[in-house]
Amino acid sequence: MTNAAAPASAELDYSSYLELDQVLTAQRPRSSAHDETMFIIVHQVYELWFKLLLSELAELQRQLESGESGAVLHTLRRLLAIMRIVVGQMDVMDTLTPSQFAEFRGRLGTASGGQSVQFREIEAVLGLRERRMTAAQSEAGRLRVEAATSRPSVFDSFLRHLAFQGYQIPQEALDRDVSLPIEPSAAVQDALVVVRRDNLVAAQVCEALLDLDQLLQEWRYRHGRMVLRVIGSKCGTGGTSGAAYLQKTMAIPVWPDLWAVRDRC
Ligand code: HEM
Repeated sequence: MTNAAAPASAELDYSSYLELDQVLTAQRPRSSAHDETMFIIVHQVYELWFKLLLSELAELQRQLESGESGAVLHTLRRLLAIMRIVVGQMDVMDTLTPSQFAEFRGRLGTASGGQSVQFREIEAVLGLRERRMTAAQSEAGRLRVEAATSRPSVFDSFLRHLAFQGYQIPQEALDRDVSLPIEPSAAVQDALVVVRRDNLVAAQVCEALLDLDQLLQEWRYRHGRMVLRVIGSKCGTGGTSGAAYLQKTMAIPVWPDLWAVRDRC
């Protein structure tokens, strides 16, 4: 349902509509190093894409919960298009050499992408609910991630969507404590095998969700490799072991059941 658009104001132009005065003055390098501007802008653009991902994920969940199968596929297509940009954008950061980064790294203090509230929110909305690296987030940030963790994840909404269509989704999966990480379930996999065999639209939704899962893993891989080439095996500004810590996160699947059913097709 769309709201009626507000009447256009006579003073509204391109710059004021997009609040460009605010956006384009929000880059404040802490050093005189040329490359710090790129570093700041790439991070800011990431946060804007994260904001859009969260908005589209909320719409996806609403559509799943209200049984709008066609709209679900459309929203998933948009989410995948955004995620491909998010992965590819790491190309820009790959151009930062270790010596260029060293010129301003000291000015970052303990600031780290690991404190990105929106990234943690995306993980929680998808269903990754292990608490990692939330220290140093603001109180408001912590509350946002906690709120996302206490709501049903995208996978919970998908299972409800399937149950509503008459598929035999195990009751314990529908009634689970949603604040906990999603555990693989043989009974859920049994249901997904049937769905994939009998329902073309729902099978496409399964494939698109798997694409989303794979793209998040690809982002982790690209980010981890970029970190290795820029800081080698040094520790991160956020206090982890750096590339070694990130390596461990690279192969975390979002929805293990969607991967497990590949053995059964
Ligand atoms: C020179 C560029 C970058 C370096 C050296 C770097 C380094 C790191 C390191 C070492 C970590 C682990 C936490 C820590 O100890 O700090 C980390 C985590 C993270 N970084 Fe970056 N990063 C860079 C660019 C980016 C960019 C452009 C983004 C985009 C938003 C980003 C987002 C993240 C996120 C979300 C995490 C948490 C990952 C997780 O815990 O699964 N980083 N980064």
